[in-house]
Amino acid sequence: MARLPPSAQTTTDEAGHLVATDFNDTYFSRDDGLEESRLVFLKGNHLPDAWSEKSVFVIGELGFGSGLNVLATWDLWNQTKPKAAILHIISFEGFLLDADAARAIHARWPELEPLSQKLIARWPTRSYGSQRLWFPEDRICVTIVIGQCAQTLPQMRFQADCWFLDGFAPSKNPDMWSPSILDQVVRLSKSTATLATYSVAGPVRRHLEAVGFEVQRVDGFGSKRQRLEARRVSKDELDSPQSAPKSAIVIGGGIGGSAMCAALTKRGLHVDLFDADPCGRYKASGNPIALIAPRLDRGDTREGRFYRSAYLLACDTYSQMDELAFARVGVIERSPTPQDQKRLADLARDPPLAGDHLIGHEDDSALLHLKGGVAYPDEVLKSLQRDCVRHPVAIAALERREGQWWALSETGKCLAKADLCVVAAGTGFKSFVDLGDDLRARAGQLSYIRTPELTLDHAICGGAYAAQSGQNLFFGATFEAWPLEDQTPPPVSSERHAHNLTILSEIAPELASEVDVSGLSGRGSIRVTTPDHLPLAGKAPGDQEGLFVLAGLGSRGFTTAFLCAEIIAARALNEPEPVAEDLVEALRPDRFLERAKRKKVMRPSPIN
Ligand SMILES: Cc1cc2nc3c(=O)[nH]c(=O)nc-3n(C[C@H](O)[C@H](O)[C@H](O)COP(=O)(O)OP(=O)(O)OC[C@H]3O[C@@H](n4cnc5c(N)ncnc54)[C@H](O)[C@@H]3O)c2cc1C
Ligand SMILES: C[S@@+](CC[C@H](N)C(=O)[O-])C[C@H]1O[C@@H](n2cnc3c(N)ncnc32)[C@H](O)[C@@H]1O
Repeated sequence: MARLPPSAQTTTDEAGHLVATDFNDTYFSRDDGLEESRLVFLKGNHLPDAWSEKSVFVIGELGFGSGLNVLATWDLWNQTKPKAAILHIISFEGFLLDADAARAIHARWPELEPLSQKLIARWPTRSYGSQRLWFPEDRICVTIVIGQCAQTLPQMRFQADCWFLDGFAPSKNPDMWSPSILDQVVRLSKSTATLATYSVAGPVRRHLEAVGFEVQRVDGFGSKRQRLEARRVSKDELDSPQSAPKSAIVIGGGIGGSAMCAALTKRGLHVDLFDADPCGRYKASGNPIALIAPRLDRGDTREGRFYRSAYLLACDTYSQMDELAFARVGVIERSPTPQDQKRLADLARDPPLAGDHLIGHEDDSALLHLKGGVAYPDEVLKSLQRDCVRHPVAIAALERREGQWWALSETGKCLAKADLCVVAAGTGFKSFVDLGDDLRARAGQLSYIRTPELTLDHAICGGAYAAQSGQNLFFGATFEAWPLEDQTPPPVSSERHAHNLTILSEIAPELASEVDVSGLSGRGSIRVTTPDHLPLAGKAPGDQEGLFVLAGLGSRGFTTAFLCAEIIAARALNEPEPVAEDLVEALRPDRFLERAKRKKVMRPSPIN
């Protein structure tokens, strides 16, 4: 199977409507797509009344198509959204249209132009997995899950308030209406969910009734005589209204804690951020630059899927920051070993990301990541921390009192209380949570030099990395065992510069030969790594309500922190998860403790 999902195959009919050739069906009614969307899906789900009392409203959609339903919903949301509420739309798509085709469709409805521009500017890329787009100014979050519904629906975990079933006519695309797909829709529905569609086909109605929907045929739109409205009448207990957390403490102001602050403040929480190193003397996130590039696997591995989704979310997040925070210079990925050369050549031939993101380079011996680049940590952290309250102090201890988390100083003084607490303290996590004995500290030195005459077109990575910023060339980095208890990084040394030059020469020999060793400066810091190369993001181990962990960001924290923060926010606030359930489970912070426990049981200690 190709690594890229298929693209939409389309043609236009004589009236200029887009038709999917594989399905011989139009993307929406020939009478008026927008009016159809408003009647069938919005009115069909009793919107806006249905969201009027909600703080979070979740819509599931089968068939993202041109995004017209998303725009119609967004438009209505902007006019009627309840104060401080958030709208999630999770839309499933197997054959992504390209942005130009979608733009041409939206152009039929000039009233949608401002929203269309926002969506098109951040149109998803063709790649398996989910891509989340946040529009915090409108309090709307769109997650597009790419792949065949039969595969992707069972992987996701969320509870929809309502559904738009929009997968072409059942007669033309029965796969999208099969009992197993409708079973998934039910699994992903709240006990009071509603559902709407233009199809009143008998088998669809009968199956919906069989799985607990009350189905009604009502007047249809345009040439369609009838449409369908349905409401779930579940024997399950009613979804109990949970009291939503309103405040959070975040410990650590590196990229992990800062991404967490942004994820929580955009959801309307009050966030107190505590950082023992506000000026960035030691923190791993205090380097002058951080490279943003994906880790791509040849196989369809869990790690590969996680890093790909994380990279796409990072690219989208950085695209919303200004050029002081991120320079999209593109990153050339080369290989330092023959084995890795095979991986790159294979990925260039059969890429997992579409051509707007990834192309083969240097005769396909390298890759060019077009949307990768250089992040400037100082500005990135500032931008992410913008809406929280910053406290430049260390937290000595956490206590659970009166149903909240209290952050205490050395002297036991309460510095803040909140409903939630996220520990994102880099090497400092041990003061607050037990994550087992498998996390490791790895010290690293980044080298840099002033080279006014140099102009690198792109950053470079592959074992080592190099990037130019202004008149400086940055390269590195060392990767050295270090005691986790020692939070002071090793001093900058010429041996470490020499090591960095050696690894640079493996992927960019000419560049390395131009570096004047005597002019080198550097910065040391410490990353936290895990044996399975995945971060930890989720509920803290043990029965500690409202306590979360973001740790083990390793060597790619500036790429992965945003997805980790979304996973934690979803869990903490009972919102739809941003990626497939197995990825969320793979990041569980209790996994090393659990593994250790299992090992102990398997290997009982000798009696004597
Ligand atoms: C040399 C080197 C080069 C790297 N290059 C890249 C790169 O190019 N691209 C990339 O994506 N990643 C890179 N990384 C990895 C990246 O820097 C890390 O993954 C990331 O910075 C980790 O972020 P963090 O928030 O978990 O930890 P940190 O950045 O270390 O932040 C943790 C913060 O928590 C604070 N803290 C700890 N205890 C307490 C407490 N009790 N109270 C209050 N605050 C506390 C600390 O003071 C610190 O400010 C590099 C790492 C190194 C070492
Ligand atoms: C009628 S169109 C959706 C129109 C869309 N809601 C809009 O607002 O433009 C149906 C969509 O379902 C997608 N689709 C069809 N079969 C699918 C499948 N098995 N899995 C995922 N998506 C599928 C098509 O590619 C198409 O984009």
